[in-house]
Amino acid sequence: MPSDEFLVTPWEVEGNVDYNKLTALFGTQPIDDAILARFKRLTGSIPPMLRRQVFFSHRDFNWILDRYEAGEKFVLYTGRGPSGHTHLGHLMPWIFTKYLQDAFDADLYFQMTDDEKFLQKDELSASATRGFSYDNALDLIALGFDPEKTRIFLDTEYARTLYPIALEVAKRVTFSAARAVFGFDSSTNIGMVFFTSMQSAPAFLPAILSGRNVPVLIPCAIDQDPHFRITRDVAPKMGYYKPALIHSRFFPSLLGLDKMSASIPETSIFTTDSPEQARTKIANAFTGGRTTVQEQRDLGGVPDICAVYQYSFYLFEQDDKRAVELREECLRGARACGECKNELADKVVQFLKHHQAAREQAQDRIEDFIIRDCQE
Ligand code: TRP
Repeated sequence: MPSDEFLVTPWEVEGNVDYNKLTALFGTQPIDDAILARFKRLTGSIPPMLRRQVFFSHRDFNWILDRYEAGEKFVLYTGRGPSGHTHLGHLMPWIFTKYLQDAFDADLYFQMTDDEKFLQKDELSASATRGFSYDNALDLIALGFDPEKTRIFLDTEYARTLYPIALEVAKRVTFSAARAVFGFDSSTNIGMVFFTSMQSAPAFLPAILSGRNVPVLIPCAIDQDPHFRITRDVAPKMGYYKPALIHSRFFPSLLGLDKMSASIPETSIFTTDSPEQARTKIANAFTGGRTTVQEQRDLGGVPDICAVYQYSFYLFEQDDKRAVELREECLRGARACGECKNELADKVVQFLKHHQAAREQAQDRIEDFIIRDCQE
Protein backbone atom coordinates (compact mmCIF):
# COMPACT_ATOMS: atom_id res chain seq x y z
CA MET A 1 0.00 0.00 0.00
CA PRO A 2 1.45 3.48 -0.92
CA SER A 3 2.66 5.43 2.15
CA ASP A 4 -0.15 7.99 1.97
CA GLU A 5 -2.89 5.38 1.87
CA PHE A 6 -4.60 3.61 4.72
CA LEU A 7 -7.51 1.34 5.47
CA VAL A 8 -9.54 1.27 8.68
CA THR A 9 -12.26 -1.32 9.36
CA PRO A 10 -13.24 -2.93 12.68
CA TRP A 11 -11.13 -5.96 11.78
CA GLU A 12 -8.06 -4.50 10.15
CA VAL A 13 -6.07 -1.31 10.20
CA GLU A 14 -3.45 -0.90 7.52
CA GLY A 15 -1.14 1.88 6.36
CA ASN A 16 -0.25 5.18 7.92
CA VAL A 17 -3.50 6.56 9.34
CA ASP A 18 -4.16 10.24 8.65
CA TYR A 19 -6.66 11.14 11.37
CA ASN A 20 -7.84 14.34 9.71
CA LYS A 21 -8.66 12.47 6.53
CA LEU A 22 -10.31 9.74 8.57
CA THR A 23 -12.72 12.16 10.29
CA ALA A 24 -13.63 13.57 6.88
CA LEU A 25 -14.04 10.09 5.41
CA PHE A 26 -16.16 8.79 8.29
CA GLY A 27 -18.07 12.08 8.64
CA THR A 28 -17.32 12.54 12.36
CA GLN A 29 -16.67 15.82 14.18
CA PRO A 30 -13.30 16.91 15.61
CA ILE A 31 -12.98 17.52 19.36
CA ASP A 32 -12.48 21.27 19.27
CA ASP A 33 -11.62 23.96 21.82
CA ALA A 34 -15.28 24.73 22.45
CA ILE A 35 -15.88 21.15 23.56
CA LEU A 36 -12.78 21.16 25.75
CA ALA A 37 -13.93 24.39 27.40
CA ARG A 38 -17.37 22.92 27.98
CA PHE A 39 -15.86 19.76 29.41
CA LYS A 40 -13.79 21.82 31.82
CA ARG A 41 -16.77 23.87 32.93
CA LEU A 42 -18.76 20.70 33.67
CA THR A 43 -16.11 18.49 35.28
CA GLY A 44 -13.52 20.95 36.57
CA SER A 45 -10.66 19.71 34.38
CA ILE A 46 -9.64 18.37 31.00
CA PRO A 47 -7.98 14.94 31.22
CA PRO A 48 -4.69 14.44 29.29
CA MET A 49 -6.34 12.12 26.76
CA LEU A 50 -8.62 14.96 25.68
CA ARG A 51 -6.02 17.72 25.93
CA ARG A 52 -3.62 15.72 23.77
CA GLN A 53 -6.20 14.71 21.20
CA VAL A 54 -5.83 10.99 21.96
CA PHE A 55 -9.63 11.17 21.92
CA PHE A 56 -9.92 13.40 18.89
CA SER A 57 -13.29 12.90 17.26
CA HIS A 58 -16.95 12.46 18.16
CA ARG A 59 -20.55 12.15 17.07
CA ASP A 60 -23.17 14.10 19.06
CA PHE A 61 -20.95 14.67 22.08
CA ASN A 62 -22.45 18.13 22.51
CA TRP A 63 -25.90 16.62 22.49
CA ILE A 64 -24.92 14.23 25.34
CA LEU A 65 -23.69 17.22 27.34
CA ASP A 66 -26.91 19.11 26.55
CA ARG A 67 -28.91 16.23 27.98
CA TYR A 68 -26.60 16.06 30.98
CA GLU A 69 -27.01 19.77 31.65
CA ALA A 70 -30.76 19.35 31.33
CA GLY A 71 -30.56 16.84 34.17
CA GLU A 72 -30.78 13.68 32.07
CA LYS A 73 -27.96 11.31 33.03
CA PHE A 74 -26.25 9.32 30.31
CA VAL A 75 -25.01 5.75 30.42
CA LEU A 76 -21.60 4.65 29.11
CA TYR A 77 -21.19 1.67 26.84
CA THR A 78 -17.91 0.18 25.61
CA GLY A 79 -16.41 -3.26 25.05
CA ARG A 80 -13.63 -5.57 24.12
CA GLY A 81 -13.11 -8.29 21.54
CA PRO A 82 -11.52 -11.02 23.72
CA SER A 83 -9.00 -12.53 21.30
CA GLY A 84 -6.04 -12.69 23.70
CA HIS A 85 -4.51 -11.09 26.76
CA THR A 86 -5.01 -7.37 27.32
CA HIS A 87 -2.24 -5.07 26.19
CA LEU A 88 -1.50 -1.55 27.32
CA GLY A 89 -3.21 -0.09 24.25
CA HIS A 90 -6.51 -1.65 25.28
CA LEU A 91 -6.32 0.06 28.65
CA MET A 92 -6.23 3.52 27.09
CA PRO A 93 -9.96 3.87 26.26
CA TRP A 94 -10.86 2.04 29.48
CA ILE A 95 -8.88 4.52 31.57
CA PHE A 96 -10.71 7.32 29.80
CA THR A 97 -14.05 5.57 30.33
CA LYS A 98 -13.28 5.31 34.04
CA TYR A 99 -12.59 9.03 34.09
CA LEU A 100 -15.98 9.65 32.47
CA GLN A 101 -17.72 7.30 34.91
CA ASP A 102 -16.30 9.25 37.86
CA ALA A 103 -16.73 12.72 36.36
CA PHE A 104 -20.35 12.22 35.29
CA ASP A 105 -21.37 9.58 37.83
CA ALA A 106 -22.40 7.35 34.94
CA ASP A 107 -23.32 3.67 34.79
CA LEU A 108 -21.25 1.55 32.40
CA TYR A 109 -22.21 -1.47 30.31
CA PHE A 110 -19.17 -3.37 29.09
CA GLN A 111 -19.58 -5.93 26.30
CA MET A 112 -17.22 -8.88 25.81
CA THR A 113 -17.77 -9.97 22.22
CA ASP A 114 -16.68 -13.57 22.62
CA ASP A 115 -19.02 -14.43 19.72
CA GLU A 116 -17.30 -11.92 17.41
CA LYS A 117 -13.79 -13.19 18.07
CA PHE A 118 -14.87 -16.81 17.72
CA LEU A 119 -16.43 -15.98 14.33
CA GLN A 120 -13.53 -13.85 13.14
CA LYS A 121 -10.50 -15.91 14.17
CA ASP A 122 -10.10 -19.37 12.66
CA GLU A 123 -7.68 -20.40 15.38
CA LEU A 124 -9.91 -19.52 18.36
CA SER A 125 -12.47 -21.90 19.85
CA ALA A 126 -15.61 -20.70 21.61
CA SER A 127 -14.18 -21.73 24.96
CA ALA A 128 -10.95 -19.81 24.27
CA THR A 129 -12.78 -16.54 23.61
CA ARG A 130 -14.95 -17.12 26.66
CA GLY A 131 -11.80 -17.69 28.72
CA PHE A 132 -10.18 -14.51 27.44
CA SER A 133 -13.36 -12.59 28.32
CA TYR A 134 -12.89 -13.49 31.98
CA ASP A 135 -9.16 -12.86 31.79
CA ASN A 136 -9.65 -9.43 30.21
CA ALA A 137 -12.38 -8.54 32.72
CA LEU A 138 -9.71 -8.72 35.45
CA ASP A 139 -7.83 -5.89 33.74
CA LEU A 140 -10.95 -3.79 33.55
CA ILE A 141 -11.79 -4.36 37.21
CA ALA A 142 -8.16 -3.68 38.18
CA LEU A 143 -8.53 -0.13 36.83
CA GLY A 144 -10.93 0.63 39.68
CA PHE A 145 -14.37 0.70 38.08
CA ASP A 146 -17.20 1.06 40.58
CA PRO A 147 -18.97 -2.33 41.02
CA GLU A 148 -22.25 -0.55 41.81
CA LYS A 149 -22.15 1.20 38.44
CA THR A 150 -20.41 -1.28 36.15
CA ARG A 151 -21.91 -4.30 34.41
CA ILE A 152 -19.73 -6.64 32.32
CA PHE A 153 -21.30 -9.31 30.12
CA LEU A 154 -20.28 -11.91 27.54
CA ASP A 155 -22.47 -12.04 24.46
CA THR A 156 -22.88 -15.81 24.75
CA GLU A 157 -23.91 -15.57 28.42
CA TYR A 158 -26.24 -12.60 28.14
CA ALA A 159 -27.81 -13.77 24.92
CA ARG A 160 -31.34 -14.12 26.20
CA THR A 161 -31.41 -10.39 26.87
CA LEU A 162 -29.29 -9.27 23.91
CA TYR A 163 -30.62 -11.52 21.17
CA PRO A 164 -34.14 -10.03 20.93
CA ILE A 165 -32.61 -6.53 20.72
CA ALA A 166 -30.12 -7.71 18.08
CA LEU A 167 -33.03 -9.15 16.08
CA GLU A 168 -34.77 -5.77 16.06
CA VAL A 169 -31.57 -4.24 14.70
CA ALA A 170 -30.85 -7.02 12.18
CA LYS A 171 -34.31 -6.75 10.66
CA ARG A 172 -33.57 -3.13 9.76
CA VAL A 173 -30.12 -3.63 8.20
CA THR A 174 -29.81 -4.92 4.66
CA PHE A 175 -26.96 -7.08 3.47
CA SER A 176 -25.94 -4.43 0.99
CA ALA A 177 -25.68 -1.79 3.74
CA ALA A 178 -23.55 -4.11 5.90
CA ARG A 179 -21.38 -5.05 2.93
CA ALA A 180 -20.82 -1.40 2.07
CA VAL A 181 -19.91 -0.50 5.66
CA PHE A 182 -17.70 -3.50 6.46
CA GLY A 183 -16.44 -4.66 3.08
CA PHE A 184 -17.80 -8.22 3.39
CA ASP A 185 -17.36 -10.52 0.41
CA SER A 186 -18.82 -13.85 -0.54
CA SER A 187 -16.28 -15.77 1.55
CA THR A 188 -17.30 -13.97 4.80
CA ASN A 189 -19.03 -16.35 7.17
CA ILE A 190 -22.67 -15.47 7.84
CA GLY A 191 -22.08 -15.06 11.58
CA MET A 192 -19.91 -12.02 10.87
CA VAL A 193 -22.68 -10.51 8.80
CA PHE A 194 -25.14 -10.78 11.71
CA PHE A 195 -22.60 -9.83 14.37
CA THR A 196 -22.90 -6.04 14.00
CA SER A 197 -26.43 -6.26 15.38
CA MET A 198 -24.99 -7.83 18.58
CA GLN A 199 -22.64 -4.89 18.94
CA SER A 200 -25.55 -2.47 18.45
CA ALA A 201 -27.74 -4.14 21.06
CA PRO A 202 -26.09 -2.76 24.25
CA ALA A 203 -26.64 0.79 22.98
CA PHE A 204 -30.37 0.21 23.57
CA LEU A 205 -30.02 -1.88 26.72
CA PRO A 206 -30.27 1.01 29.22
CA ALA A 207 -33.50 2.17 27.59
CA ILE A 208 -34.94 -1.33 27.42
CA LEU A 209 -34.04 -2.23 31.00
CA SER A 210 -35.39 1.03 32.41
CA GLY A 211 -38.42 1.36 30.13
CA ARG A 212 -37.61 4.92 29.04
CA ASN A 213 -35.27 6.60 26.57
CA VAL A 214 -31.72 6.96 27.96
CA PRO A 215 -28.83 8.85 26.32
CA VAL A 216 -25.82 6.59 25.75
CA LEU A 217 -22.20 7.61 25.17
CA ILE A 218 -19.79 5.13 23.57
CA PRO A 219 -16.05 5.72 24.03
CA CYS A 220 -14.20 3.60 21.44
CA ALA A 221 -11.25 3.48 19.08
CA ILE A 222 -12.20 5.02 15.73
CA ASP A 223 -12.14 1.62 13.98
CA GLN A 224 -15.39 0.70 15.78
CA ASP A 225 -17.26 3.65 14.26
CA PRO A 226 -18.66 1.64 11.31
CA HIS A 227 -20.69 -0.54 13.70
CA PHE A 228 -22.18 2.47 15.38
CA ARG A 229 -23.04 4.21 12.13
CA ILE A 230 -25.43 1.31 11.66
CA THR A 231 -26.62 1.57 15.27
CA ARG A 232 -27.32 5.27 14.83
CA ASP A 233 -29.16 4.61 11.60
CA VAL A 234 -31.59 2.13 13.12
CA ALA A 235 -32.01 3.88 16.51
CA PRO A 236 -34.79 6.30 15.50
CA LYS A 237 -36.57 3.51 13.61
CA MET A 238 -36.64 1.56 16.88
CA GLY A 239 -37.81 4.61 18.85
CA TYR A 240 -34.54 5.26 20.70
CA TYR A 241 -31.97 8.04 20.89
CA LYS A 242 -28.95 7.65 18.65
CA PRO A 243 -25.94 6.81 20.83
CA ALA A 244 -23.23 9.48 20.95
CA LEU A 245 -19.61 8.50 20.31
CA ILE A 246 -16.19 9.69 21.32
CA HIS A 247 -13.31 8.21 19.32
CA SER A 248 -9.67 7.55 20.15
CA ARG A 249 -6.64 7.15 17.95
CA PHE A 250 -4.88 3.80 17.82
CA PHE A 251 -2.25 3.11 20.39
CA PRO A 252 1.10 2.84 18.61
CA SER A 253 2.88 -0.44 18.11
CA LEU A 254 6.26 -0.83 19.79
CA LEU A 255 7.66 -1.82 16.42
CA GLY A 256 6.41 1.33 14.74
CA LEU A 257 3.70 -0.32 12.67
CA ASP A 258 0.19 1.10 12.70
CA LYS A 259 -2.00 -0.46 15.31
CA MET A 260 -0.87 -2.83 17.99
CA SER A 261 -1.51 -6.34 16.96
CA ALA A 262 -2.14 -8.83 19.74
CA SER A 263 -0.97 -11.58 17.39
CA ILE A 264 2.65 -10.35 17.29
CA PRO A 265 3.74 -10.31 20.97
CA GLU A 266 6.74 -8.01 20.36
CA THR A 267 4.51 -5.18 19.16
CA SER A 268 2.83 -4.72 22.51
CA ILE A 269 3.27 -5.01 26.23
CA PHE A 270 0.67 -7.23 27.81
CA THR A 271 -0.68 -6.61 31.30
CA THR A 272 0.49 -10.13 32.11
CA ASP A 273 4.11 -9.54 30.98
CA SER A 274 6.88 -9.86 33.56
CA PRO A 275 9.09 -6.81 34.24
CA GLU A 276 11.89 -8.52 32.27
CA GLN A 277 9.65 -9.14 29.26
CA ALA A 278 8.46 -5.52 29.31
CA ARG A 279 12.04 -4.22 29.55
CA THR A 280 13.21 -6.38 26.66
CA LYS A 281 10.33 -5.26 24.44
CA ILE A 282 11.05 -1.61 25.18
CA ALA A 283 14.77 -2.13 24.59
CA ASN A 284 13.93 -3.49 21.13
CA ALA A 285 11.33 -0.84 20.32
CA PHE A 286 11.33 1.27 17.18
CA THR A 287 12.53 4.82 17.84
CA GLY A 288 12.96 8.01 15.87
CA GLY A 289 16.69 7.93 16.58
CA ARG A 290 19.57 8.34 14.12
CA THR A 291 22.11 5.67 13.29
CA THR A 292 25.04 7.20 15.16
CA VAL A 293 25.37 9.21 18.36
CA GLN A 294 27.01 12.02 16.39
CA GLU A 295 24.12 12.24 13.91
CA GLN A 296 21.68 12.18 16.79
CA ARG A 297 23.43 15.18 18.36
CA ASP A 298 23.68 17.07 15.07
CA LEU A 299 20.29 16.37 13.54
CA GLY A 300 18.14 15.49 16.54
CA GLY A 301 15.67 12.60 16.69
CA VAL A 302 12.18 12.28 15.21
CA PRO A 303 9.78 11.93 18.18
CA ASP A 304 6.66 11.89 16.02
CA ILE A 305 7.52 8.49 14.56
CA CYS A 306 9.07 7.15 17.76
CA ALA A 307 7.17 4.38 19.57
CA VAL A 308 8.93 5.17 22.85
CA TYR A 309 7.90 8.82 22.69
CA GLN A 310 4.36 7.89 21.68
CA TYR A 311 4.06 5.58 24.70
CA SER A 312 4.94 8.45 27.00
CA PHE A 313 2.66 10.85 25.21
CA TYR A 314 -0.35 8.51 25.18
CA LEU A 315 -0.10 7.02 28.65
CA PHE A 316 3.01 7.31 30.74
CA GLU A 317 3.85 11.00 30.96
CA GLN A 318 1.00 12.72 32.76
CA ASP A 319 2.81 16.04 33.05
CA ASP A 320 2.14 18.19 29.97
CA LYS A 321 5.19 20.36 30.49
CA ARG A 322 7.46 17.33 30.73
CA ALA A 323 5.92 15.79 27.59
CA VAL A 324 6.73 18.94 25.62
CA GLU A 325 10.24 19.08 27.07
CA LEU A 326 10.92 15.47 26.10
CA ARG A 327 9.91 16.22 22.56
CA GLU A 328 12.01 19.35 22.32
CA GLU A 329 15.07 17.77 23.90
CA CYS A 330 14.81 14.95 21.37
CA LEU A 331 14.37 17.33 18.43
CA ARG A 332 17.48 19.28 19.31
CA GLY A 333 19.62 16.20 19.80
CA ALA A 334 19.92 16.49 23.56
CA ARG A 335 18.54 13.01 24.23
CA ALA A 336 19.78 9.55 23.38
CA CYS A 337 17.27 6.80 22.67
CA GLY A 338 18.70 4.64 25.46
CA GLU A 339 17.80 7.31 27.99
CA CYS A 340 14.19 7.49 26.81
CA LYS A 341 13.91 3.71 26.77
CA ASN A 342 15.19 3.39 30.33
CA GLU A 343 12.88 6.08 31.65
CA LEU A 344 9.89 4.53 29.93
CA ALA A 345 10.80 1.01 31.07
CA ASP A 346 10.95 2.17 34.71
CA LYS A 347 7.49 3.70 34.42
CA VAL A 348 6.01 0.70 32.65
CA VAL A 349 7.46 -1.75 35.19
CA GLN A 350 6.07 0.32 38.04
CA PHE A 351 2.67 0.43 36.37
CA LEU A 352 2.70 -3.34 35.76
CA LYS A 353 3.54 -4.10 39.39
CA HIS A 354 0.64 -2.03 40.61
CA HIS A 355 -1.73 -3.30 37.92
CA GLN A 356 -0.84 -6.97 38.42
CA ALA A 357 -1.48 -6.71 42.17
CA ALA A 358 -4.88 -5.10 41.48
CA ARG A 359 -5.57 -7.79 38.86
CA GLU A 360 -4.87 -10.50 41.43
CA GLN A 361 -7.38 -8.94 43.82
CA ALA A 362 -9.94 -8.65 41.04
CA GLN A 363 -10.14 -12.48 40.93
CA ASP A 364 -12.37 -12.52 44.00
CA ARG A 365 -14.55 -9.64 42.83
CA ILE A 366 -15.37 -10.71 39.31
CA GLU A 367 -18.88 -11.88 40.17
CA ASP A 368 -19.69 -8.38 41.52
CA PHE A 369 -19.41 -7.14 37.93
CA ILE A 370 -20.63 -9.90 35.62
CA ILE A 371 -24.26 -10.09 34.55
CA ARG A 372 -25.62 -13.11 32.71
CA ASP A 373 -28.96 -14.64 31.92
CA CYS A 374 -27.86 -18.05 30.80
CA GLN A 375 -24.85 -20.30 31.17
CA GLU A 376 -23.96 -23.80 30.16
N1 TRP B 1 -15.71 -5.09 18.62
C1 TRP B 1 -14.88 -4.54 19.67
C2 TRP B 1 -13.45 -5.11 19.51
O1 TRP B 1 -13.17 -5.93 18.70
C3 TRP B 1 -15.43 -4.83 21.03
C4 TRP B 1 -16.62 -3.97 21.37
C5 TRP B 1 -17.90 -4.38 21.56
C6 TRP B 1 -16.62 -2.54 21.59
N2 TRP B 1 -18.72 -3.33 21.88
C7 TRP B 1 -17.97 -2.21 21.90
C8 TRP B 1 -15.63 -1.58 21.55
C9 TRP B 1 -18.30 -0.88 22.16
C10 TRP B 1 -15.97 -0.27 21.80
C11 TRP B 1 -17.31 0.08 22.11
O2 TRP B 1 -12.57 -4.70 20.24
